[in-house]
Amino acid sequence: MKADIGLIGLAVMGENLALNMESKGFTVAVYNRSVPGEEGVVDRFVSGRGKGRHFIGTHSIGQLVGSVKSSHVIMMMVKAGRPVDELVSQLLPFLSPGDVIIDGGNSDFHDTERRVKDLEEKGIYFVGTGISGGEEGALHGPSVMPGGSADAWPLVKGFLQGISVKLDDGSPCCEWIGTGGAGHFVKMVHNGIEYGDMQLISEAYSLLKRRKGLDNDAMAVVFDEWNGGELDSFLIEITARILRFRDEDGKPLLDKILDVAGQKGTGKWSAIAAMDENDPLTLITEAVYARLLSALYPERVKAARLYNGQLKVDNGQLEEKENLSIVNSQLSIEDVRQALYAAKLVSYAQGFSLLHRASVHYGWELDYGTIARIWRKGCIIRSVFLQKVTDAYRKEPDLENLLFDDFFRNKIQASLPAWRRIVAEGALSGIALPAMSSALSYFDGLCTLHSAANMIQAQRDYFGAHTYERVDRERGHFFHTDWTGEGGRTVSGTYNV
Ligand code: 6PG
Repeated sequence: MKADIGLIGLAVMGENLALNMESKGFTVAVYNRSVPGEEGVVDRFVSGRGKGRHFIGTHSIGQLVGSVKSSHVIMMMVKAGRPVDELVSQLLPFLSPGDVIIDGGNSDFHDTERRVKDLEEKGIYFVGTGISGGEEGALHGPSVMPGGSADAWPLVKGFLQGISVKLDDGSPCCEWIGTGGAGHFVKMVHNGIEYGDMQLISEAYSLLKRRKGLDNDAMAVVFDEWNGGELDSFLIEITARILRFRDEDGKPLLDKILDVAGQKGTGKWSAIAAMDENDPLTLITEAVYARLLSALYPERVKAARLYNGQLKVDNGQLEEKENLSIVNSQLSIEDVRQALYAAKLVSYAQGFSLLHRASVHYGWELDYGTIARIWRKGCIIRSVFLQKVTDAYRKEPDLENLLFDDFFRNKIQASLPAWRRIVAEGALSGIALPAMSSALSYFDGLCTLHSAANMIQAQRDYFGAHTYERVDRERGHFFHTDWTGEGGRTVSGTYNV
């Protein structure tokens, strides 16, 4: 008997996806590259978690492909980057035109674009799919974002929609995203938004802890309450759980975790992609910078000592001096919630604006309402709020910016006073709020009809003859002024990046 699909890579995500697929009625052939010191992974899986179920263990790429029904569908769950290219070249000799390779890792969408093109020239279909939901999601139902060779969709739809989580109406959190690298691009923006949400939550935590003076249990109650309202989301829910979690000694584990944030790159890629599309993705980019700043630990220690005299050594641990965390008991918890919510609205508006620009650039014809729908469940940024994004795009599919939608406008207007108070509170008390404040600056910048960019244009023309447009002339006509009386008549090109 042959398998319906082959799966390469039995690390945590691959193993759980294999189990998920099998539980949906598919027979799965599995293969894992033999790494010295990690031999026997396939056999251990087949005789362990996979025992008595419909798995075929294989020990070479040839055996794997040979164990799968044709047209062969082979899914890879391996580390992004070179391992994907290596496996593709190893697979090629065994594949025939019409076969499909699926890459379910967090690959760079540029790589996916290239792979789709290269493989289609050989008659092989390539699907780059985002998969979100972590370990749990992989096992019980992730959100799945496939893109690549469009002709492959009918061949892989059953598998990918089968493993995906379902909404209450039974619809799968998996739909075809678009050609080329569209699926991985959308997953990358999902992760960027994830970075933004996490940064916003950490800023709210910082205010509640350092300005309001709440302890972890009290903060857990606040986050639980927030989770019962319009902020209802997976990340808010786990924040309350994390705040309550005790280490073996009964003390909060969170307080023992070093405040140095790691990252695997998808947030940074989102920021780079936004620059490439000339799109001001300020909140997510600030969230990436905040992680980078957190990682400059020795410099932070030095700066804190230099500027705040903020540290004392207690049992070998660096501690903040008590008197520097002056609590402002007047700080309104509701203000913090509203600032978090308003900034979140901006973050999603920015994320979807990036999707829009990339969609136009690459010709993906992304369906934003559907993307928000498949993020409603299964993925890390799942939330009740995403329904509002879907509603906005269902009403107006070509909306340039979500902030123009009525729901968003009303919410921003209602939260604005609180949001300004919170950003001011942070500035006055020395609490860094990069995401909340950059979102506010973006919003204020967006709403400013007469900005200060005329000064920038004047300066560019003054020192480099870069030319400028005039408010009293039609757009598209460029002028140069000899500001000093010593300049020539030659102007620099008017191109923009
Ligand atoms: C998901 C997550 C996942 C991501 C991790 C780690 O959707 O399941 O986005 O794909 O890789 O959350 O991301 P960082 O290490 O960059 O924080």
